[in-house]
Amino acid sequence: MPITVNDTQYDLPDDPRVSLLDFLRHEIGLTGTKKGCDHGQCGACTVLVDGMRINSCLSLAVMHDGDTVQTIEGLGTETDPSPLQKAFLEHDGYQCGYCTPGQICSATAMLNEFANNWPSDASDDLEAAIDMSDEEIRERMSGNLCRCGAYVNIVAAIKAAAKEMAA
Ligand code: FES
Ligand code: FES
Repeated sequence: MPITVNDTQYDLPDDPRVSLLDFLRHEIGLTGTKKGCDHGQCGACTVLVDGMRINSCLSLAVMHDGDTVQTIEGLGTETDPSPLQKAFLEHDGYQCGYCTPGQICSATAMLNEFANNWPSDASDDLEAAIDMSDEEIRERMSGNLCRCGAYVNIVAAIKAAAKEMAA
């Protein structure tokens, strides 16, 4: 079975050593997903697999037979950006932009986790409805590092996108 990336089907690589990240960037030319550390430490390579966020550098492409992958290119376009893509632009949620695709993919999945009331390490009550506080957002986005330190604006962008999506 092939892999589906942003609504297009591709054959998986013959070489079982190819990471999902290298497959996306080098084999099908989707260079929006970035390679930072290549060791699961920075989150720059975050993509969505069947709606869940993962570090694509830590996953082999052949493990995704039949899976549906979304990358930053599949979330929106220049003329029709996703609410998060728009909010990152409006709130200056980036400086050099290298971590941004990973931040936006991660935040996309994170907002679904909020919508399903998944608790995090910052949640006091595991049963109660969770308030989208700055602390909750920072904890849930802690796997995505930004060397430029745009964290304050990233949190503001995520809150703005969540508000727009709720409206
Ligand atoms: S490149 Fe994958 S976590 Fe850093
Ligand atoms: S915007 Fe430069 S690393 Fe985050």
